[in-house]
Amino acid sequence: MGFGLGLGFHQKIIFAFLVVFLGSSKSTLPIGITSRRSNYYKSIKIVDPSGHGNFRTIQEAIDSVPPYSQGPWNCIYIKPGIYREQIKIPYNKPFIYLKGAGKKKTFVVWDAHDSISTSATFTSDAQYTFAKSITFVNSYNNPAGDGKKRPMKAAVAALINGDKSAFDRCGFLGLQDTLWDANGRHYFTRCTIQGAVDFIFGAGQSIYQDCTISVTGRALNGGIGFITAQARSGQWESNGFVFKECRIVGNGQTYLGRPWRDYARVLFYNTTMSRVVVPQGWDSWLLFGRENRLTFAEYGCHGEGANTTRRVPWLKTLSKRTLTHLTNISFIDDPGWMSMLPLKPLHCRLN
Ligand SMILES: *[C@@H]1O[C@H](CO)[C@@H](O)[C@H](O)[C@H]1NC(C)=O
Ligand SMILES: *[C@@H]1O[C@H](CO)[C@@H](O)[C@H](O)[C@H]1NC(C)=O
Ligand SMILES: *[C@@H]1O[C@H](CO)[C@@H](O)[C@H](O)[C@H]1NC(C)=O
Repeated sequence: MGFGLGLGFHQKIIFAFLVVFLGSSKSTLPIGITSRRSNYYKSIKIVDPSGHGNFRTIQEAIDSVPPYSQGPWNCIYIKPGIYREQIKIPYNKPFIYLKGAGKKKTFVVWDAHDSISTSATFTSDAQYTFAKSITFVNSYNNPAGDGKKRPMKAAVAALINGDKSAFDRCGFLGLQDTLWDANGRHYFTRCTIQGAVDFIFGAGQSIYQDCTISVTGRALNGGIGFITAQARSGQWESNGFVFKECRIVGNGQTYLGRPWRDYARVLFYNTTMSRVVVPQGWDSWLLFGRENRLTFAEYGCHGEGANTTRRVPWLKTLSKRTLTHLTNISFIDDPGWMSMLPLKPLHCRLN
């Protein structure tokens, strides 16, 4: 792959004061304390709707990043605000880091619907995409029960289609098909994912750690929703969703999941489940009678919704070896791409 990275990221850091010159701007903007780790950043661009940054829209900032970057990261710092745009990182733009001001401060909102392939507020087709402290919203029927309820339709907030991508403290808010975790190895940590129907779906190979799953099932008027619709389609495929140390909260009623494809694989591990989870837990949907193909499992979960006494009889019991395989970070981090992520605070922002 020829990345000049991965070396020394965990070595001792020597702090130094640096002044970063923003490429396109004549003025110099002090970035504050930074470190040798600032070599994570090839560029830092500021998005500010009031015109005091490099760009007013997020998409303009993405468009300004040269294609085929080999790293380090091109950071786009997005000031607090509600950005009404549909944004896309194309497949040829790896190493874009979208940094918001906070999960409850920087919002990207769009309200397309009908088709899962065109409705996403945020689409990433590139590998090495990283986003932190930003919330992606599809506002179609969301917030639910705002008095203007329209027919239930797929309305995607984010479509994550590239490999080796991560999301820290991000929000994904919608009602149906909120987060299309479509393809590749992904890490979601400290994120909030909200919806009622199939709202985490696709064939991603993902670990969700310390995330809040917020069920808005009341919008279904007594119907039972589905958190996941995983799409593993063959028994040798490596993908699957692993929820580790997460929390399921909300209102209404929900299944933990139903299969989108024949060999769907989902594990809830050491997760707290409120009573929104129905006792039977899972639905076999189109796989009725072929449930043996599915890998739907729970291990070490707690809370009122986690009682497995009345679960479907085909709930899988995983071997210790499989549990370790799925919950170890190596499930997604082979061969170590995550060491390139600027997961620690690394000053991609103006002070
Ligand atoms: C379960 O999760 C809690 C945090 O929510 C953590 O402290 C604990 O170590 C975890 N237990 C196992 C067995 O992973
Ligand atoms: C689990 O559910 C069963 C059947 O509903 C009930 O008898 C049992 O007490 C429950 N266990 C716990 C720990 O709540
Ligand atoms: C996780 O996987 C790595 C790499 O395969 C291994 O070195 C480590 O011991 C594993 N951790 C656990 C807790 O099994």
